[in-house]
Amino acid sequence: MEKKRIAFDLFVFEHDNELSQNEQKLLHTAEAARENAYAPYSRFKVGAAVLLENGETVIGNNQENASYPSGLCAERVAIFQAGARFPGVAIKAVAISAAAMDHVVDQPAAPCGNCRQAIMEYEQKQQSPITILLKAEKGPIYKCSSMADILPLAFNNSFLGDS
Ligand code: THU
Repeated sequence: MEKKRIAFDLFVFEHDNELSQNEQKLLHTAEAARENAYAPYSRFKVGAAVLLENGETVIGNNQENASYPSGLCAERVAIFQAGARFPGVAIKAVAISAAAMDHVVDQPAAPCGNCRQAIMEYEQKQQSPITILLKAEKGPIYKCSSMADILPLAFNNSFLGDS
């Protein structure tokens, strides 16, 4: 038996001004996008901003539905829009901002499993890491250097064979 340990570096910042100018801007774009979330059911708003290699930024926010599973998270609204509008352009970073309407969220909300998988697909396709920035209304900022860090042992198309 061999025991393997999988670890990753999580960078924790106390203030926005510890980030690069580009990262601060991306986070603020995600915060602004969050305001337009359609979240009447969960009353939990999420905004996402995707920075592309060509300098474009694409935003998303969670879009809920009376038929609950039909809604979509902010991250996938944003990343799929990036894929649709800028096919073949590499994604450099995704900033995610979360806030509840009825209480204060004071620690970064991590992306759900489906969103990790969706972002991972692009990371694998472009063969370069995507930086993930997370922040709530209050509290620290988390930065991960790659989606692979927070989705280890990910399923990908290599399991599907050549066809
Ligand atoms: N949500 C996101 O938009 N992103 C996540 O990564 C986690 C959850 C949304 C989905 C739903 O509209 C609300 O937050 C509560 O789960």
